[in-house]
Amino acid sequence: MKALFAMKVLFVSPEVFPLIKTGGLADVSGSLPSALTHLGVDIRILVPGYPSVLHQLLELKSVATITGLPMIDAPVQLLQGIIKETQVKVIVIKAASLYERAGSPYIDAQGIDWPDNPIRFSVLSKVAAILSSDKSPLINWLPDIVHCNDWQTGLTPAYMKLTENSTASSILSLHNMAFQGIFSAEWATKLGLPSEHFRVDGFEYYDQLSFLKAGIFYADSLSTVSRSYALEIQTEEFGFGLEGLLAERGEEIHGILNGIEMDEWNPASDPYLIKKYSATRIAGKKEVKKALQKELGLNNDANAPLLGIVSRLTYQKGLDLLLPNIQRLIDEGCQFALLGSGESSLEAAFSIFSHDNPGKMSVTIGYNEPLSHQIMAGCDMFIMPSRFEPCGLNQMYGLAYGTLPIVNATGGLADSVIDTGVATLKNKTANGFVMAEASSGALLAVIKRALDIYREDPKGWRKIQRNGMLQNLSWDHSAQEYLDLYTKTIETRKI
Ligand code: ADP
Ligand code: GLC
Repeated sequence: MKALFAMKVLFVSPEVFPLIKTGGLADVSGSLPSALTHLGVDIRILVPGYPSVLHQLLELKSVATITGLPMIDAPVQLLQGIIKETQVKVIVIKAASLYERAGSPYIDAQGIDWPDNPIRFSVLSKVAAILSSDKSPLINWLPDIVHCNDWQTGLTPAYMKLTENSTASSILSLHNMAFQGIFSAEWATKLGLPSEHFRVDGFEYYDQLSFLKAGIFYADSLSTVSRSYALEIQTEEFGFGLEGLLAERGEEIHGILNGIEMDEWNPASDPYLIKKYSATRIAGKKEVKKALQKELGLNNDANAPLLGIVSRLTYQKGLDLLLPNIQRLIDEGCQFALLGSGESSLEAAFSIFSHDNPGKMSVTIGYNEPLSHQIMAGCDMFIMPSRFEPCGLNQMYGLAYGTLPIVNATGGLADSVIDTGVATLKNKTANGFVMAEASSGALLAVIKRALDIYREDPKGWRKIQRNGMLQNLSWDHSAQEYLDLYTKTIETRKI
């Protein structure tokens, strides 16, 4: 039975698929609110008005104007629209000087952070806090919960408690501790934060202002995107300096594994694939592989193991560990299809291998949504040797597409990929391959282990594929966990 009064949630995020995306946070911000809607939650997403957001939303109309923000002279306009694919409602902050510029939401064409990022994301945070207070200009809609995501929204709980006297409870989801939004101390007053809280038990971090620390300190509840990561971030290796504060709140950090959007990532209906396939009709995957080889200029060889990578090319993702192994694997008959962008040294290193190995290694530098689906579907294996991975979505897409993930045992990778071995084959849980440690040697060893089964035991391979493809990877379970967390947070809110 539907509750008489639906819980109201303001979901605050700097990126939301399909409106704007740089990584997995966008995928989560697009799909989790939709899943929560199906559980009866009255949810609205709050997002900055980047050009692609303004262009894509349906029924966009002005709903309010906010004046007097300390960090920007001009008033900001609030628009409301609907995401076509999911029908979820979105509130957009229209502030042309802050958000309407070419390029990435975070960096300029040279890869340097936009200098006004503190202003851009404090406006996002401040507007969220205002919308959850009695100063909200929205008529008849006051959230019970404000769900914040990552550092860009980290000041929201601080503003809610310190300046807006918000009536809602706040949750901060930690998707990646490596990004914290740390700026020099003078920003605190410019952004309208009360100076007496610039202290250890506040938003100060080694004499600087930290957006993420503010969120962790002031949020009523904390969550991360996998159980393993919830524990890892309380250690020096993964906490990026905030492990002490996180350990103090250790018991309260809820690890909720991300789900995937099955309407978007499903080989049986994926519009980017020349042939659809499923666990019971997997033959189509061969045709997708053939088409991918053709598209990428790889040799047309059905038997060559095709290894895929779609990734940000950064230290986190551990793909440098693959470099010493590539030539050897190619010489042993493997093909590679890589799509990604990031650190120029990694882009260059992979590009050299593709230049030296025509027909055997394809490297596409850039961002390409259709190709990411085609690689996911057309490859036999997907490589993710991340040094840390809060959740990771690509390994789950790999599971859904019968493209066996080869991963390091960290964060969400450890929580979603079950290594193939005698016992896990027998109890039908094996769904991929897990490295013994984050090293080049361990990566080579695990790839060779996978290759042996791929080449010598096709039936066994099919079974592992089927185990992953038949898993329920959707948001069904995790969205309910968020709803339970919302309820608990409201009940136990610290005043
Ligand atoms: P992260 O958010 O740390 O980058 P995730 O695995 O959670 O890692 O999510 C990455 C998302 O970004 C996936 O949806 C993946 O397909 C997508 N992605 C990453 N790089 C590219 C790219 N170059 N082109 C298209 N999609 C990409
Ligand atoms: C971050 C993490 C990634 C996670 C994503 C969505 O970008 O790096 O592991 O899947 O957020 O939660």
